[in-house]
Amino acid sequence: MSSEKVRTTVSVIKADIGSVSGHVVVHPDTIAAATRVLAEAKAKGIIVDFYVTNAGDDLELIMTHRKGVDSPEVHEVAWNAFKEASRIAKDLGLYAAGQDLLSEAFSGNVRGLGPGVAEMEFYERPSEPIAVFMADKTEPGAFNLPIFKVFADPFNTAGLVIDPKLHPGFKFEIYDVFEGKSVIMSAPEEMYDILAIIGTPARYIVRRVYRKVDDEIAAVVSVERLSLIAGRYVGKDDPVAVVRAQAGFPAMGEILEAFAFPHLVAGWMRGSHHGPLMPVPQRYAKCTRFDGPPRIVGLGFQVKNSKLIGPVDLFDDPAFDETRRMAQVVADYMRRHGPFMPHRLGPEEMEYTTLPEVLEKLKDRFFKVEGAVKAAKPKVKSELLSDESKE
Ligand code: F6R
Ligand code: MG
Ligand code: MG
Repeated sequence: MSSEKVRTTVSVIKADIGSVSGHVVVHPDTIAAATRVLAEAKAKGIIVDFYVTNAGDDLELIMTHRKGVDSPEVHEVAWNAFKEASRIAKDLGLYAAGQDLLSEAFSGNVRGLGPGVAEMEFYERPSEPIAVFMADKTEPGAFNLPIFKVFADPFNTAGLVIDPKLHPGFKFEIYDVFEGKSVIMSAPEEMYDILAIIGTPARYIVRRVYRKVDDEIAAVVSVERLSLIAGRYVGKDDPVAVVRAQAGFPAMGEILEAFAFPHLVAGWMRGSHHGPLMPVPQRYAKCTRFDGPPRIVGLGFQVKNSKLIGPVDLFDDPAFDETRRMAQVVADYMRRHGPFMPHRLGPEEMEYTTLPEVLEKLKDRFFKVEGAVKAAKPKVKSELLSDESKE
């Protein structure tokens, strides 16, 4: 097959449209329903290729096409696939059927309607390996730590030190989900500033990464946060990401290495607990114990003339057994805290809370303590230091 100089778009669009036995796994009939819609779109030439799969209770549409990112036509295909799968989910009485579809009507783009989206467009290299990551029971900021390691940590990615194409570094677009604003920062020069921000993953999310030498797109992460869109709890924002590998990008093994540490992420039971992110083969992508622990699946593909060759189930390897074992130990350790922080999230991050009702019930039972000082709003250390310097 000759290699055309084509601009290909990879679109990974996901939604939880209902699952079996609670929030555990999608039903094969919903995968089949989405597959039918995508096959029709392929026959009509709207998309070139696709792969439908799941990560736990999330239905995942991996599509390739030539219509660029945010294409209304491609988003409509995804929307119709989710609608059709939801219809089947409702017929089968699946749990939380249609959960992530926040609107009845499609309006040109699925962003803001519930589904999570990670899309990138590029000129295909002669050989174009990519990894698609799909997580369940966690939030988009869960990717901050591994993506930072892949593109900025020389102890993770040998290429940053010894490959001339990687050596100049990468640019990070960091998205503030509360303000809806992004900032572009450069590694390694601004590494400490980047970490100062992305260490707060509930707010600042690495959204895109570009290779510095030529501004080529290297990675993209879905940043949708459902509860911020809907203004109420509607399920976790189980994120997806696409990363380009090899020949001037981090090697596939450098990308996967970043997931060998099962770091703590927010999500798990009722979207309100910290737990370890466990990399698993697809057959283990179902959250069982305490609705978790949070999982991540990785599928590897080659993209050729906009077709998807693969996939390879990237974490289906005993090399990740120790990571999974550590995740089990950490899961046990965290679980033993029961309802206490830091296992349970802080009040501002919990997806379910009875706290306002409990406080309301107790409001007349709180009594003034003689001599007690009512605390002012706590100051952060830097404010205290600047107060001291005024004295
Ligand atoms: C977390 C998640 C589950 C549910 C939990 C309670 O993202 O989806 O942990 O929050 O199973 O679900 P409901 O309230 O539907 O019974
Ligand atoms: Mg669910
Ligand atoms: Mg899910």
